Amino acid sequence: MITSKIASLLNEQIAKEQYAAQYYLAMSAWFTSRDLEGIANYFRVQSKEELMHADKMFDYLADVGGEIKILAISQPPNEFIDALDVFEKALEHEKSVTRSIFNIVKAANDEGDFATTSFLQWFINEQVEEESSASLLVSKIKMVRDNPSALYLFDQELGQRVFNPAAEA
Ligand SMILES: [Fe+2]
Ligand SMILES: [Fe+2]
Repeated sequence: MITSKIASLLNEQIAKEQYAAQYYLAMSAWFTSRDLEGIANYFRVQSKEELMHADKMFDYLADVGGEIKILAISQPPNEFIDALDVFEKALEHEKSVTRSIFNIVKAANDEGDFATTSFLQWFINEQVEEESSASLLVSKIKMVRDNPSALYLFDQELGQRVFNPAAEA
């Protein structure tokens, strides 16, 4: 049985994952309007993944009989200084999501809610991956941003990413 405190933290996390999806979609739009379709694709896929994270928490709450509440999500920034700024903000955002997940794990631990800590283990591992890939992309964009042919190849590379729902299950 889940307490209302942990359920409400998870409801807030659902909204945070949905906000992340909106944020990444705004990043995708920024690259789309600059004809960097490959990078735009990367963020579009990232956005879809975030929605799956929200769904995963929704399903967990349903499984444990927690009350599910769909909360408001605010408008994400749509303006960015340049490509590096976008990637840096993506990394910053992942770090804030990690802190948020850790907070729920801590609260669940304090309550002896081992079902939730076990459930959140997937997200802890996911955040390690997310921060690692976001950080790698910050390094890469720094390498290529002032070189049009390198940027072209980088865009091609990120255009290869495909959404794989099975990886998020
Ligand atoms: Fe996420
Ligand atoms: Fe994420």
